[in-house]
Amino acid sequence: MTVRFSVSLKSRSGKSGAGSTVSEYEQRFKTAKRSGSEDSKDDCSRIVNLYYDLVTDFYEFGWGRSFHFAPRFAGESFKASLARHEHYLALKLGLGPGMVVADLGCGIGGPMLEIARFSGARIVGVNSNAYQLERARKYAEEADLAHLAEFMHCDFLDVDAPDGSFDAVYSIEATCCAPDKVSIYGEVFRLLKPGACFAAYEYCVTERFDAQDPRHLEIKADIELGGGLLGIDDRQTVDDALRTVGFEVLETRDLSEQAGPSIPWYQPLVGSGVSLASFRSSRIGRSVTHNSLRLMEALRIVPRGSARVSEMLNLCAMAMAEAGRLGIFTPMYFIHARKPG
Ligand SMILES: C[S@@+](CC[C@H](N)C(=O)[O-])C[C@H]1O[C@@H](n2cnc3c(N)ncnc32)[C@H](O)[C@@H]1O
Repeated sequence: MTVRFSVSLKSRSGKSGAGSTVSEYEQRFKTAKRSGSEDSKDDCSRIVNLYYDLVTDFYEFGWGRSFHFAPRFAGESFKASLARHEHYLALKLGLGPGMVVADLGCGIGGPMLEIARFSGARIVGVNSNAYQLERARKYAEEADLAHLAEFMHCDFLDVDAPDGSFDAVYSIEATCCAPDKVSIYGEVFRLLKPGACFAAYEYCVTERFDAQDPRHLEIKADIELGGGLLGIDDRQTVDDALRTVGFEVLETRDLSEQAGPSIPWYQPLVGSGVSLASFRSSRIGRSVTHNSLRLMEALRIVPRGSARVSEMLNLCAMAMAEAGRLGIFTPMYFIHARKPG
């Protein structure tokens, strides 16, 4: 896996190496503005695409094929918790054979293949990043699930499908990348059949976030830069946007607050990693990866700039863990809404 990671980094970089792309990303990020304007939408999609070009191999190496967090029960493996978090959406949406469902921002297809296998529904994975879709297609073939998995290479703000195409729509930690919630939820509303439902996990700041606290602001800024996000909304903004576009809100709830799971969602980002599976995402595992990359960069085994990307992701991971501990941020604000019939 380590060899595949370095080969993949090497083969995907142009002559200038990842360094020029990471500086382009940082430059664009600094000057981008978040608003509902067309310019801001273009800025946002370019930045997100650059970001995922840079980080996809790192995510896959450090986290696996599902690029999201999950609450975890004592004794439950990391992988099992991710799958349960995915099944929960399928359960809430009542997915089953014969249904056609959109996964907005499908990543490299980990969740959609799991949900297709679990529910028997046909899933259309929408993603603006070509490299991720290439990997998702490959994994669908390998899993013998090509008959239940279709892919669309487009912006999820402008999906190339007629109104009312889908029996359900879900999204996992992806609509947070949209420039504003009204635009993305409006598109979801358009895509759903009357009476059909939308469910998602949103990134949100909680009511403990204090916009006057410099440390809170710093943490939020590190999460945004290292996570390819032009902003993080609060829960009220999410709820209001759902209603503004016409949804009937069935449930909104922060799953990180429930009493059950005893291992918090940010645990894989801290400590030393108790198993090989969790080692790479842990603080010590990330440090090993980072130092190896610096060495491999010096030896020209991986492209210039790879260590800079890993540094940016480390900063983001530390900020997320601190935000989790302080309770000022959640990556699992669960939303469930229905388009009136
Ligand atoms: C954090 S990843 C989550 C991926 C996937 N849902 C998972 O859990 O594995 C966010 C995903 O959203 C996609 N994305 C972000 N903005 C997008 C846009 N405007 N249109 C389509 N896809 C987008 C990214 O390319 C990436 O695949």
